[in-house]
Amino acid sequence: PPTLRALAARHDIRIGTAVDMSALAADPVYRRQVGSEFSTVTAENVMKWEVLEPQRGQYDWSAADRLMAFARQHGQAVRGHVLVWHSQLPAWLTAGSFSSDQLRQILRKHIFDTVGHFKGRIWQWDVVNEAFNEDGTLRDTIWLEKLGPGYIADAFRWAHEADPSAKLFYNDYNIEDVNAKSDAVYQLVKTLRAQGVPVEGVGMQAHETVDYTPTTMRQNMQRFQRLGLDTAVTEADVRMVMPPDAAKLGAQADVYRSMLSDCLATDRCISFTVWGFTDKYSWVPGTFEGQGAANLLDETFTPKPAYDAVRATLAAK
Ligand code: G3I
Repeated sequence: PPTLRALAARHDIRIGTAVDMSALAADPVYRRQVGSEFSTVTAENVMKWEVLEPQRGQYDWSAADRLMAFARQHGQAVRGHVLVWHSQLPAWLTAGSFSSDQLRQILRKHIFDTVGHFKGRIWQWDVVNEAFNEDGTLRDTIWLEKLGPGYIADAFRWAHEADPSAKLFYNDYNIEDVNAKSDAVYQLVKTLRAQGVPVEGVGMQAHETVDYTPTTMRQNMQRFQRLGLDTAVTEADVRMVMPPDAAKLGAQADVYRSMLSDCLATDRCISFTVWGFTDKYSWVPGTFEGQGAANLLDETFTPKPAYDAVRATLAAK
């Protein structure tokens, strides 16, 4: 049977997964499936600031470079994740007492160094991640506090300067539907575009549960499309209270199917990435106690109904 990536290519989209670099090194089954089934990859952790610059001024590109080499060998486009976020920052940065001017220079350098290191080899960069609260106000982070709201436009301008060929994304969770948070993202990117700031896409993370299917995702993607922006599903997973049963697995399949259909129905939805593809490696159980089984394959790499739904949805053309 054709691979997922071959089926996705018929729709002119890429299908992707987050990659756990420890699993990639240690688990040959995982490695083979990442290489064969997906046409885009995202580093689950190794392009985050705390990994890239653990000591100030001392970069460690090794794990990220291993992913770049893997992607190249397998003809995969890379989503760069992530440049400006409030989480997984190096301790020297969060514990240091920097002035606003110093912090602005530190962020600028981080963006130029990181985007520059991968220049010409990244398809989409998540430039700013999770900048909003659920009610649509800006999240209180070190960046907002010290630099003010202008840090967002600055980050996109710097990233574009460092690599004009990368598509620059704003990325967030709970913005799949039309709601207060996605309204705020809409206003942000509309304003940025009007000011000539090089934001080119909106990434919808899509960390879901089996209890709810986004109902207005298509409409939401289409309003971003009308602004001239690409969209992407960037971190899809659908968790459930353990243990799985047939009803939950069926509901999970419905959520994946619905989100993928919304992406396929939107011309400018250019990729559909899952945040891991096997329950063997998932961030969910460590974060949501008693929940898990959020991925397309179970922990033995056996396809679940969600995998069949994704495959069938891609094959229906
Ligand atoms: O690297 C250390 C390792 O040395 C240590 O032995 C181990 C012990 O716990 O921890 C390792 O670090 C963990 C890291 O993942 C790598 O496995 C961190 O504790 C853990 O917090 C970290 O979690 C990641 C999380 O982001 C952190 O915020 C998840 O793997 C990753 O899936 C998750 O991804 C985020 C996206 O970047 C943004 N959107 C939400 C998404 C899910 O939270």
